[in-house]
Amino acid sequence: MRVDQERCQGHNRCFALAPNLFDVDDYGVAHELNGGVVPPDEEHQARVAAANCPEFAILVDEEG
Ligand code: F3S
Repeated sequence: MRVDQERCQGHNRCFALAPNLFDVDDYGVAHELNGGVVPPDEEHQARVAAANCPEFAILVDEEG
């Protein structure tokens, strides 16, 4: 899972929905935590965050 920094416009929904998976820098741009590795029990949250990003900036790969 990763955040496309070019697309992110700082809507902050990802961080609000899944603070364990995302952090937001001083410019409001989100980035993935833990090197983008999503623990199995947080995969659902990752998908919810991706679905709620208005800029489609969150890319979740389907493999583990
Ligand atoms: Fe950026 Fe989308 Fe999150 S625009 S701050 S990745 S909700």
